Amino acid sequence: MMLSEHCPLFNLNPEIPLNGYTYSLCKMQVGIDDLAIYVPKLYVDYKDFAEARGIAPQKLEHGIGIKKMALADTNQDPACMAANACLKLMQRNHLHPKDIGRMYVATESALDESKAMNSFVIGMLEQVYGEGSFEHAGGIECKFACVSGSYALYDNTNWIRAEENNGKAAIVIVSDIAKYDIGSSGEYTQGAGAVAILVKENPRILAFDKKVTSTIIKNEYDFYRPCGKETPLVNGNYSNLLYLIQVRKAFDSYKEKAIRTGLISIKDDESITDYIDLFSVHLPYRKMGEKALAYLLRHEWRHLPRWSYVIKEVAMEEPLPKDPRGTIESILADTEFMKADEKFRRAFVQTSFYNEIFEKKMASSLQASTIIGNLYTASMYMGFRSLLEFEYKKGTDLEAKRVGFGSYGSGSSAMVFSGVIQPQYKEIVKRMNLEVEIGPRKKVSMEEYGKLHENGISFNDSILQTNKEFILAKIGGTTADKAGLREYIYIN
Ligand code: COA
Repeated sequence: MMLSEHCPLFNLNPEIPLNGYTYSLCKMQVGIDDLAIYVPKLYVDYKDFAEARGIAPQKLEHGIGIKKMALADTNQDPACMAANACLKLMQRNHLHPKDIGRMYVATESALDESKAMNSFVIGMLEQVYGEGSFEHAGGIECKFACVSGSYALYDNTNWIRAEENNGKAAIVIVSDIAKYDIGSSGEYTQGAGAVAILVKENPRILAFDKKVTSTIIKNEYDFYRPCGKETPLVNGNYSNLLYLIQVRKAFDSYKEKAIRTGLISIKDDESITDYIDLFSVHLPYRKMGEKALAYLLRHEWRHLPRWSYVIKEVAMEEPLPKDPRGTIESILADTEFMKADEKFRRAFVQTSFYNEIFEKKMASSLQASTIIGNLYTASMYMGFRSLLEFEYKKGTDLEAKRVGFGSYGSGSSAMVFSGVIQPQYKEIVKRMNLEVEIGPRKKVSMEEYGKLHENGISFNDSILQTNKEFILAKIGGTTADKAGLREYIYIN
C-alpha cells in the first residue's frame, strides 16, 4: 500500500506504525484559523469617477470591475488599518498577546525606511492590552509588492510546522493603500484596507498543503515606487502580462510538486485544475481574476482532448506567437499575435467550458474587489474571504475542498500554493458579512477625493468621526530629532 493513500494532508497513513517524528508531522495541520478585515468607510463611486474623467461608466463597471473604491480618511494610514484589523481578530477570538508568538505585517505602503510597520501596530495594540504585553513576540515588516503577504504566511506556517512556536499562534497582517496618479489609467484601480490572518495548528478554516508551495522570481520593472514617491511608476499592460506569465510558471512548478508528492494524481486526459475546487488569485481589480483564470485554463487544457471541443465553441484556432520561445518582450512586440490572442481570449471567456469553471470556482472571490478596489498585499486575502462568504451564502458545502492560490507581486515574484477547507469552517464563515463588517460607508464627492488624494486636508480634520478604532493623532515632534515620529490613539 502507498503511504500517500490515507492522510490527505501529508500523504502518510497515520494507521501505519511510523517513527514518532514522521507521525507527529503527519498529524500536524497548519493554516488559517480566522481572518478579520478593516476597510476605511470613505469611498468614491464609479459613476462620479467616470463622469469626472470622461470615461464610460461601463468601462469601470465591466471592463475593470469596480463600483466603489475605498479611500483612507485623513487620520488613517496602513499601520492603523492593520492594527484595527488585528484588534478585531484578537477580540473575536478572545486572544491575549501571550497567545501570539509572531506578528508580521506585509505591505508596500511602508511608512518608514527603517522602522517596521508591525512595531507601530504593536504600539497601538499595547494601548489596549497593556504596555509590554507583546514583548515576548517577534516579527518583521515584509516587502515584495503584492506577494509579500504570501511569503509571510508561508514563513509563519513553517515556523509552526518546525515546532518553534512554543504553542503560540502567528498573526500575519496585510495592509495597503493603493494610490495612483490623478488622471493615470491606474487611478481607477485604487483602494485601501487590511486583512489580519490568524495562523495556527489545527486551523478551523484552511490547512495548507505541504511541500507544494512554489515560487518564481525575476528582476523586473513592471511596477515600482522609488523611495519618497507616493505613487508608483507602472507599465500597466506589461504588468498584466507579467502577472499571468509568472503565476503560470509558479503553477507549473506547483503541479510538478503536487504530482511528485502524490498530493494530486491525474490521468492523461485530465488537468491538475480539475482537482482544484476553488481559486483565489491576486486581484488588482476584478477583471484581472477573470483573465488569470482564462490564461491558466488555456495553458492547462490546450494539450488535452477537451481542447477540440473548446476550439469548436471558440470558433477560431488559438493563435501562436511568431517567436516560439514566448518571452514577454517578444510577445509584446508581436502586435499581430497580441491582437489575435486578445480576440481569442474574449471568445474563450464566453465558452460554456470557461464559464462553468469561472462560476463554480472563482466568481465568489471577486465580489469584495468590486466594492472595495485594489488592496495590493491584501487583495488576494480579501478575495479568499469573499470566496468563503459568498460560496457559503450560495449553499456550497466547502468541507474538504481544495483552494488554489495564485499570488503575484510586481518586481517580480509569484507564489502558488494550496490548502484544504477544514470541517470546522462553518463556525467561522457563517458569521461573515462583508457589508456589516465594513460598516456604514460615506460617499465622497470628486472634490473631496481630489483633496484627499493630494493630502490637502490635515489629519486633524478627518471627514468621519471615529469610534472604537485606532487613528493617527500626531506626526513629528517639536524638535528635529523627533521628525516623522508617528503617534496613534485608540478612540473608545
Ligand atoms: N464598456 C465596457 N468595457 C470597456 C469599455 C466600455 N465602454 N471601454 C473599455 N472597456 C474595457 C476594455 O475592453 C478592457 O477590457 P479587456 O481587458 O477585457 O480587454 C478594459 O475595459 C480595460 O481597458 P483598457 O483600455 O484595456 O485598459 P486601461 O488603459 O484602462 O488600463 C490597466 C487598465 C489595468 C492596465 C490600468 O488600470 C493599470 O495600469 N492599472 C495598474 C496596474 C495593475 O493593476 N496591474 C495589474 C497587474 S499587478
